[in-house]
Amino acid sequence: MRKLLTLIALGLIASFGAAQTIDGAVADGEYANTVTDEESGFTLSWTIEGETLHMAVQATSSGWIGVGLAGEQTNRKAGFDQQIFTVQDGAPVALDMFQPGARGEPDMDTAEGGSEDFAAFAATYEGEAWTVEFSRPLDTGDEHDVAIVPGNEMIVAVAHGNTMDPGREHDRSSRGGAYYIEAFTF
Ligand code: HEM
Repeated sequence: MRKLLTLIALGLIASFGAAQTIDGAVADGEYANTVTDEESGFTLSWTIEGETLHMAVQATSSGWIGVGLAGEQTNRKAGFDQQIFTVQDGAPVALDMFQPGARGEPDMDTAEGGSEDFAAFAATYEGEAWTVEFSRPLDTGDEHDVAIVPGNEMIVAVAHGNTMDPGREHDRSSRGGAYYIEAFTF
């Protein structure tokens, strides 16, 4: 009986550890993987469940934060699958974007015939500390998104704006506004 109870308890702990709650708060052990990029200060956590990516982004910023993904780099940030997290009308929002040019601002996927592909999103912004959580299909089927293949190396771009206006650029990368995280593997 005691052994059975122990097994049930372990089962509960295991399922609790794997539970993804997209609520804008990251609990200890909520994600299977966590990486902190020391240069940018961004912490990325993720769990892959079937064909879905659950991801958390924690960073400090006086404005929006952005995360971009690319399978390979061709010309600076051109072609990156960008997402910007900001606050609009007092509420956190997630913008599904892509990067047409090597420099300058990304465009909304929906502005170019693409789709908005966040399956879930929640975030908190308190005292310049962002905690973002979202879910998306690994392969959204939108040509403006990068298909994520677990185990394949990717390049992640991260940036922090100085305001909540995604039309206002981040500080130059040479001044700490944007970074690449190389050889990133989901
Ligand atoms: C997801 C959001 C974003 C990410 C991850 C991001 C990332 C980056 C990165 C990594 C670079 C360096 C490119 C290189 O030299 O190889 C860069 C450059 C640049 N970005 Fe962004 N960016 C984002 C959003 C924006 C927005 C919203 C604007 C303007 C409204 C912008 C304007 C620029 C400009 C002007 C440059 C060239 C200057 C520089 O090297 O810093 N970016 N960005």
